This record gives sequence, C-alpha cells and structure tokens, in this order.
Amino acid sequence: MPATLDPADPDFARDPYPYYARLRTKGAATRVALANGTHAWLVTGYETARAVLADPRFSNVPLRGAGRPRADSPARRAQACLARHMLNQDAPDHRRLRRLVTRAFTPRRVDALRPRIEELADGLVADVTRQLADGKTADLVDAFAFPLPVLVIADVLGVPEADRTQLREWTYRVGSPADALPPGAVEEAWRELYAYFTELIAAKRRRPGDDLFSALVPGLDEGELVAMAFLLLFAGYETTMNLLASATLLLLTHPDQRAAARDGGPRYWAAVTEETLRFDSPLEGATWRRTTQQVELAGAVLPEQAAVLVVLAAANRDPEHFPEPDSFRPARYLAEGRRPAPHLGFGHGPHICPGARLARLEAAVALPRLFAALPDEVGLAAPADSLPYRPGLLVRGPRHLPVR
Ligand code: HEM
Repeated sequence: MPATLDPADPDFARDPYPYYARLRTKGAATRVALANGTHAWLVTGYETARAVLADPRFSNVPLRGAGRPRADSPARRAQACLARHMLNQDAPDHRRLRRLVTRAFTPRRVDALRPRIEELADGLVADVTRQLADGKTADLVDAFAFPLPVLVIADVLGVPEADRTQLREWTYRVGSPADALPPGAVEEAWRELYAYFTELIAAKRRRPGDDLFSALVPGLDEGELVAMAFLLLFAGYETTMNLLASATLLLLTHPDQRAAARDGGPRYWAAVTEETLRFDSPLEGATWRRTTQQVELAGAVLPEQAAVLVVLAAANRDPEHFPEPDSFRPARYLAEGRRPAPHLGFGHGPHICPGARLARLEAAVALPRLFAALPDEVGLAAPADSLPYRPGLLVRGPRHLPVR
C-alpha cells in the first residue's frame, strides 16, 4: 500500500479498486496522505458513505479561498462563477436552487427528450459504422460517448443548432487535460464559454424557449444562472460520457454479456446500465465534503474542517452489501425477489443526482443502438489494460476506446 495516494498515477486511474479494497480493511473512513502534500479522509464503506452523504455536519461549501479560483482573469472569473453552483451549497440556499431544478426536470419533460436523443444517437452511430466500413479505427469516446451527452445538454440548455459545434469544441477543451492542448487553449475556452452563456441567458430573458433551462430563468439571478448552465453542462456530460464509455468497454470485454444484452431487450439494457453505475461508477468520488465540527465516524474521530471524500466507486464494491463485488454481473439487477442494495452511483441524500432519469434515458437509447450496429467481429483495437483513464479522484472513465 503506497504511503501517499497519487490520483494522477495512470495505473491508479485505470484500476483504483485494489487500493480502495485494502483501505476499506483498515476502516470505513481512513485518513490518507495525498501526493500534493494534503490529507483527506476517504470513505470506502457503503453504510458509512450513505451516512456521510445524508449528514448535515458534512458541508459542501468550500472553505473561503480553498480550491476557489481567484477572479483575476476572465477565465478565472468564469471558474469562480461556476463555483457558486448548487453542489457547492448547503441548506437553505441549496434547497432553494434544488427545488427550481427538480421543478424543471419533471419526468414528463425529461421523457419528452427521447425522440431527440434517438435522432442524435442514430446520427452518431451512423458516423461510427461509416468509419468502420471505410476500414478505419473508430474511437467510441470521441465519436459516441462524448458528443451524445454534450448534444443532449445543448438541447436542455436550448443552445441554437448553429452554435452546437462550437459548444462541443469549448466543452472538449475545458474538459481535457491541459497538456493535451496548445498553451492557452483551455483558458480561452473558459472565457468563451462564459461569454457565450451570459449571452444565451440574456437572449432567454428576452424570449424564453421551450427548453428545460428556460424554465429556470425567472427564479435565478444572473450569476446563479451562469453557474447553473455550467453545472448542468459539466454534471450532465462528463458523467454520462463515462457511463456510456465504461458500459461499452465492459460489453466489449465481456462477450457473453454483449450477446445477452443484445438478445435481452430493454430490461437487460437497464440492468447493464445499473451494473455499470455500480461496477465502474462514473463519478468515482462525490464532491468534497468538509466537517463543520468534530465528528465520530465508523470508529474514527474526524477533526473540525477535515476534508472528506466519499468514494462512491469503493462503496459500490463493498462486499458486505454486494456479493462478488468485483464481478460485472448485470443479472444482479434482474433477479426477482431479493433486490440488491441500491448503488450509490447517483449519490445519496440532499444532493442526489437530479439528472439520473435523463442519464438512464440516454443509456437506454444509445447503448442498444450502438451494439445493434456494431458487427460481431468488431472489437477493441488495443488491449483493455492499456487504455488511458481520466486522472483524478472525482470522475472515472476511459479517455479513448478504439475499435475496428
Ligand atoms: C451517468 C450520469 C450521471 C451520474 C453518474 C451522476 C452522478 C451524480 C452524483 C453522484 C451527484 C451527487 C454528487 C455529490 O453528492 O457530491 C450528482 C449531482 C448532480 N447531478 Fe448528476 N450524474 C449524472 C448525470 C447527470 C445529468 C444528465 C444531469 C443534468 C442534466 C446531472 C445534474 C446534476 C446536478 C445539477 C447535480 C447537483 C445536485 C445538487 O447539488 O443537489 N447529472 N450527480
């Protein structure tokens, strides 16, 4: 077990589970030294994870200064504005923002997006099959798992058709590791996205559309609206991208499950989605919490102002609650009678994901379409254990998924 945890270590990013399993044997909440010189309490036990996510002594509000970018450049101003979003707030501010979002994201409104998601997925899958038919290698992250959720959020935000290529490009830049792009490109994308959202919101005030986001406009001030647009974009695309990419990878590496899903209909596909959310949780860790007082937790005593990371991916593999936790078995979500413990892929407590229905809908539409179109002989074009993963403790998924 390494003395310090380095979230940028590519081997850890690809397979953090053995580390979390060892950590769990030391206690459901354990103090860990991080490579950047700080310490954090990592929660890896299922029951303790649920308890923390529902306990108001663990605050979501970042410490003043800590982790908050200084507003000394347009790009940093954009990031500082984003930091005002609802995931960074506690009750009662959080409750007010949350109520507006749940009122806008009604099941009826989300379900009404289905035909549009089908159209988008069909277009992307057609591009993939065209690349393969031309004898090329297709990257199912760049060509499928990334664009679909971005284009769906563009619909949710009511971004005009003509601006979508640009939105996709900015999102790609802002979400990519800085070293993968020319110097300044990430900063510039932040600035442009910020200016764009400000403009979009002004336009919606003048003339509301029938998109979901327009329903939020009357209830929020200018800064809250920009923060909300950023939050919906990033909470909605990165996670769903990783869900689609991980589910695709799991099916490509489990031919028996690929065949069973293809023959099993919507119920089986729903089980694949749930098992992927458990087995390869797209949000590896919930957002950072901080203790507002000394707290006793699973036999440990956390001081006031301790940084706490609830590792959803680890809680979802707690053997106390999930038999054979390290096996990918969608059937556990099909079994009649005894239901498995609810996974924590969408979180728990007051911040539980309000976009879960939309994420499940995207997966239900897109995954069967992709696999119906991929000929049986198409498989990974690189060994699964060589694929690079996104670094960090918060989101997890493969960066590329080459197939041919
Ligand atoms: C597979 C896809 C998704 C996963 C795994 C996921 C997961 C999560 C989790 C775990 C949280 C709670 C984080 C915490 O407590 O720190 C959360 C919050 C949130 N998610 Fe999602 N999410 C997904 C898709 C979406 C989508 C599609 C949207 C919207 C379009 C969305 C919007 C949000 C928002 C606004 C919050 C903050 C809620 C609050 O603070 O009360 N998510 N999500």
